[in-house]
Amino acid sequence: MDKFMIEGGRKLFGKVEVQSAKNAVLPLLAASVLTDEQVKIRGVPAISDVENMLKILSELGCKIKRTKDCAIIDGKNAVSHEIPARLTKELRSSVFMLGSVLSRFQKAKISYPGGCDIGLRPIDLHLSGLKRLGVQIVEENGYIICVAENLTGADILLDFPSVGATENIILAAVKAKGVTVIRNAAKEPEIVDLQNFLNAMGAKVAGAGSSTIVIEGVKKLHGVEYTPIGDRIEAGTFLIAAAVCGGEIEVEGISSENIAALLHKLRENGCKIHIKNDKIYLGSDGNLKSVDLVETTPFPGFPTDLQAQYSTLCCTASGTTLVVENLFETRFKFAAELKRMGADISVRDRTAVIRGVKKLHGACVTAGDLRGGAALVIAALGAEGESSVYDLSYVDRGYADFEYKLRKIGANIKRIHI
Ligand code: EPZ
Repeated sequence: MDKFMIEGGRKLFGKVEVQSAKNAVLPLLAASVLTDEQVKIRGVPAISDVENMLKILSELGCKIKRTKDCAIIDGKNAVSHEIPARLTKELRSSVFMLGSVLSRFQKAKISYPGGCDIGLRPIDLHLSGLKRLGVQIVEENGYIICVAENLTGADILLDFPSVGATENIILAAVKAKGVTVIRNAAKEPEIVDLQNFLNAMGAKVAGAGSSTIVIEGVKKLHGVEYTPIGDRIEAGTFLIAAAVCGGEIEVEGISSENIAALLHKLRENGCKIHIKNDKIYLGSDGNLKSVDLVETTPFPGFPTDLQAQYSTLCCTASGTTLVVENLFETRFKFAAELKRMGADISVRDRTAVIRGVKKLHGACVTAGDLRGGAALVIAALGAEGESSVYDLSYVDRGYADFEYKLRKIGANIKRIHI
């Protein structure tokens, strides 16, 4: 289990180039089995979620070529419709492989992904959407077994704008007979990216980014070369780190629209923010004002994936902030670790009351999930003294070259293999 040793208290200066979005690359990789031609995705980050998705594809029979930042998938010889259980456990979001495997093989088998570190993570909306497309689904001994002789377009209303369910239904519908309409669809930028990727393969998808998406089934999809959008959560993580530590950074490769909710809060906290094309500049003296309330909601609201990192900022902002986590049941696990660093946080269910203190102090802390781990790194960077952040397997799921990128902008951080 690796750990970070971090000497806090240094301001951050310089440029950060964001990676391709993890939450865009994963559905694009799932979509690559929809064609038996070659798919090339550029800028694929070296993170364990991506490596696990590539392992799933190769166990289905796809040929994978991986360079430092490209993935080439050749699905010609894909033969298996069974998504390996040990990999589903590692990668919950493998559940949206269902849609593309069903479309390719008219059948699919996956072990129930179950809950994880941030909540129950049910998949009822995925399964009810697939059933509307004519998929027969049997759940037995912890497996979900799907059969779809002929996927047929349908009008689907999601009870909740679930990102994964929206993606799964799109993947199952692109080669279905007829037209599918998804209402109350998720509007995240990663879904727009999936639409653009599929249309570049010859699909007919329209409306992504709005709550109504229309998919006209086509017979065949061809290969494609594609560069996904920048990772808005990685960008937000670095912007929050600079806001907390003080300094001036420029984050490149991201549309400011994709993190407008965060930028709005950071301005209220007193950060200077300028935007130029796909570059976001942030300046901060490290002495931040608190905002009264932050509530996570589906896009374009404040993203749940930046809640932990932003809660860390609230720990040393002057004043009290109420943080409400509306998307997941247990996404405040990092709070207990921040309290070991001197934070004043009270958590009840999905709400945290955070009273700003002058400074946090270094401590030994342990990550319990991906974004909570990033929050602890930010806390350690802004704290006085030395911290150890244990269990880097979580941050390694979503941040490529994390310590390298932080060192490049002045952080004193090193990875220790233990
Ligand atoms: C995606 O997860 C992201 N993961 C998550 O990012 C992100 O937090 C989440 O969307 C919300 O934005 C990927 O894209 C790989 P949801 P997903 O379905 O699709 C409920 C990260 O840190 N729900 O939009 O699983 C669910 O319980 C990860 O990068 C149902 O009730 O999220 C939750 O309360 C973490 N039934 C809410 O919807 C369902 O069938 C949002 O879930 C599906 C979801």
